[in-house]
Amino acid sequence: MKPKVLITRKIFDEVVAFVREHFAVEGNQTDTRLSPEMLIKRLQGKTGAITLVTERIDEDVLSHCPALKIVSNVAVGYDNIDVDACTRRGVMVTNTPGVLDDTTADFTWALLLATARRVVEADHYLRSSKWKGWGLMQFLGYDVHHKVLGICGLGRIGQRVARRAKGFDMEIVYTDAIRVPRSTEEELGARFVDKMTLLSESDFVTLHVPLIPETRHYISMAELTRMKSTAILINASRGPVVDEKALVQALQGGNIAGAGLDVYEREPEVEPALMGMKNAVLMPHIASASHETRLRMAKMAAENLVAGLTGRRPPNLVNNKVLSW
Ligand code: GLV
Repeated sequence: MKPKVLITRKIFDEVVAFVREHFAVEGNQTDTRLSPEMLIKRLQGKTGAITLVTERIDEDVLSHCPALKIVSNVAVGYDNIDVDACTRRGVMVTNTPGVLDDTTADFTWALLLATARRVVEADHYLRSSKWKGWGLMQFLGYDVHHKVLGICGLGRIGQRVARRAKGFDMEIVYTDAIRVPRSTEEELGARFVDKMTLLSESDFVTLHVPLIPETRHYISMAELTRMKSTAILINASRGPVVDEKALVQALQGGNIAGAGLDVYEREPEVEPALMGMKNAVLMPHIASASHETRLRMAKMAAENLVAGLTGRRPPNLVNNKVLSW
């Protein structure tokens, strides 16, 4: 009998078909998020799961699903999974690094340009038939070219964002827990500074750190008040990296000029005050959402799952400790 696996949300049919070649698949092709109770119910008796960032796999879930051997997350971030609890129980955790870097960097730029140049607001204006013709003072935004871009987290995605900044003739500063090699700094033209210097020097601050305990509220009131009143904050990393209430206050108080957000502290909830702000561009967590990349991510997760359940080391195993070989 084939091992049983659960795919928690709608994914590409061709990927489901690939997984079916190996396992008995229970799917949820409705694309609605399973409630925690339903998730537990459907995971019981399954040896593997393909999960999305909307599912929390924690101690409670694991304690109800002792057959589980692998959780294959379709995302590079895996803060929705309690990795330590998985490791304690011998459950492999995998992610999808690398394949989404360029797509996420492209989107970071879309968010940055849209916020700086008021693209979404102007589109709404036109569609509501308010436009009565060209005006010199209409929709003045901020220049992007020749400005200072501050990148928090110069990892795979942050570096791709930096490369694109070169085309805008920007000065690039970055901060990170670990400084990248000098050769990378030179190639990207990026100058290492501490976080507070970055915040005070940058016209655009873009966040590319993983969500770990040290980066929860990485940007809070103290940080926001260090930023220029003309600066724009971009977040396409994880919502809890920014203290959303502090961000609302900073936007309302004019501490910063705008924010482009793809992620939120309590998704899918968004601070109600943000909803009414014209200087905030709000996207529904879609930075990696291109046809090509989301398919690559789903395939990668399926390959990780198959490897893990057929006695091979999954190529993108997060908790290496779980395997003794
Ligand atoms: C999406 O948010 C990801 O982490 O891949």
